[in-house]
Amino acid sequence: MSYNVFVTRHLTPDAENKLYTFCDTEYWQEETPPPYPVLLEKTKTIDGLICLLTDPIDRNLIESAENLKVISQVAVGVDNIDLQAAAERSIPVGHTPDLLTDATADLTFALILAAARRLGEAINYARGGHWQTWGLTTLLGERVHGATLGIIGMGRIGQAVARRAAGFNMKILYTSRTRKANIEKELSAVHLPLPQLLEKSDIVSLHVPLTEETQRLIGRTQFKKMKPHAILVNTARGAVVDTDTLVSALKSDEVGYAALDVTDPEPLPHTHELYQLPNAIVTPHIGSATRTARNDIALLAVENLIAGLKGDSLPNAVQ
Ligand code: DGY
Repeated sequence: MSYNVFVTRHLTPDAENKLYTFCDTEYWQEETPPPYPVLLEKTKTIDGLICLLTDPIDRNLIESAENLKVISQVAVGVDNIDLQAAAERSIPVGHTPDLLTDATADLTFALILAAARRLGEAINYARGGHWQTWGLTTLLGERVHGATLGIIGMGRIGQAVARRAAGFNMKILYTSRTRKANIEKELSAVHLPLPQLLEKSDIVSLHVPLTEETQRLIGRTQFKKMKPHAILVNTARGAVVDTDTLVSALKSDEVGYAALDVTDPEPLPHTHELYQLPNAIVTPHIGSATRTARNDIALLAVENLIAGLKGDSLPNAVQ
């Protein structure tokens, strides 16, 4: 039996070769996502869909894709997919946890270090011809070694960040829906309610999925609780932070520095004020962007898809 599959962007060669052996596949050829009406049209008669976090897989689409047997997302976060609508039609949804955990934790640490030691400003300072001498107080940043790190969301990526932080002798505080006895034992991490975590942390790093509960979790009230030189790092989802309020908090030095790999809106328009602030750095959602991680997650997405088409349980199902 031959299946029709639509893939909303090209995958890696390994993943495409694997898919090629199994089904008739149409790939969206552009670098940017298919416009919604095109996506709707392309998915109407397909059996399987491989999508990215930029594609709105909403109720309308899920209900109009009459033959759809499986949705396979090439990412761990699935906030772009209406899971309830998929469940109502018993369509399994696959995602790709684990394989991108270390890559995302590495990038989180790169952002922590870049923000604390003002790397963006320092590079521009040297490039811009401002480097006249060694100055005792030139480009002073914040310490990372021995600082207190507040991790919001102690899932796989939060834990991987905590393990890296242990190598920097950091004190680790965390919030999480459930206590993580393993991390408390292994790293002496302390579980705290969010307000206390914000008051005590030098660096706050976000690792929660985007849900109704976490939407704009960090806004005016939370910024007011943070230490004046505190650094906010977001490698989770942009909408966990209230962007406009963050801009005001950075401008008034209520928050010391923000390092964001994810933004709201995303992509962040190049005219956005955040790019102009000296105490903010923005990277274009590259948390999992290593060759290995991206190849691995593309392959897993294909495996999830194939299992779903065959009616088998997915190697990594969200529901
Ligand atoms: C994910 O998998 O959800 C990440 O944001 C993509 O790197």
